[in-house]
Amino acid sequence: VMAEKAGYNHFMQKEIYEQPRAIIDTIRGNYSLENSSVSFPDFNIIKDAVKDLNRIVIVACGTSWHAGLIAKFYIEKFAKMPVEVDIASEFRYRSLVIDEKTLFVAITQSGETADTLSALRVAKKMGAKIMSVCNVVGSSISRESDSVIYTHAGPEIGVASTKAFTTQVISLFMFAMFLGQERKILSRDECGRYLAEVVRLPEVIENVLSKDDLILSLAKQFKDASDFLYLGRNVNFPVALEGALKLKEISYIHAEGYAAGEMKHGPIALIDKTLPVFVLCPKSSVYEKVASNVEEVKTRDGIVIAVVTEGDEGLKDICDYMIEIPDIIEELSVFPTVVATQLFSYHCAHLLGLDVDQPRNLAKSVTVE
Ligand code: G6P
Repeated sequence: VMAEKAGYNHFMQKEIYEQPRAIIDTIRGNYSLENSSVSFPDFNIIKDAVKDLNRIVIVACGTSWHAGLIAKFYIEKFAKMPVEVDIASEFRYRSLVIDEKTLFVAITQSGETADTLSALRVAKKMGAKIMSVCNVVGSSISRESDSVIYTHAGPEIGVASTKAFTTQVISLFMFAMFLGQERKILSRDECGRYLAEVVRLPEVIENVLSKDDLILSLAKQFKDASDFLYLGRNVNFPVALEGALKLKEISYIHAEGYAAGEMKHGPIALIDKTLPVFVLCPKSSVYEKVASNVEEVKTRDGIVIAVVTEGDEGLKDICDYMIEIPDIIEELSVFPTVVATQLFSYHCAHLLGLDVDQPRNLAKSVTVE
């Protein structure tokens, strides 16, 4: 078993470290990036339908749902199409507004999640075009889709999803650019500028992985906390949800992910000197807003661990701990921020002596509704 783990302690750790490679493989495996534009070699069905589509409905469960929440920002920005993101088990049980102008997108690592598959079948019956983002070739959901974007993460063994998530997010980023081009909203110049940032991702993630010792020392310090709050805004709000989910899943530490600006409407009541607050605050259009949320936490004596862009001066004197990540455009900052949260959760669980790859009560793929 040690051999399969290639020297890592756990599959999850190995999979966290594989992300730079997995992202490169996913880009190479799906898209051609010629002349500052994105094209999908095998994407005719959706391509023909692009001009007739007026709405996108994304459905998924767990970590894949978080990828969907991020994709909404990408598609609205690049393609100016309305996007709804739903939890698969919620999707079916209400009056759906779906027709043949709807593109239904299922996001699923396994391609076998029962709730997601059932949602897909309902949408298909109502006439929607079906696309999926999936990591397993030949899985049920990929077989029932009109078009599939395969993530090339390779097998993911750890129950807590890591490389499947980041490859889903890059797939959806590229898909959003593709839609933007087809709909003549994203210019070639803009597309070229975004692609230049995309190709930096492996190196940006490597940089975060090189901060592993720092993150381990933070885990040593906080692994015995009973509660955690994760805060982020905009694209980093779903990362706050994902960071909290990961900590719950493998460390069994109660954690809540919240939109930073919404903190004052509830969770602020929980803040005292024992509560660690993990804040995702890279350079962004909402940086000042998140920074002021950090001050609100500090005023109430909360402990702040902030993920910030290298060279950030603004938060230095307010935060208790900082994890610096390389500068990258806001849309893609979710990659370095999520990797920091993955490493943190991993180390907490490992230090607590828990079964990182097989956490209690959880299954890698949930095939019952
Ligand atoms: C399970 C796994 C999660 C995963 C979710 C959705 O709960 O433990 O890691 O995010 O299912 O799985 P899928 O295969 O559809 O992405």
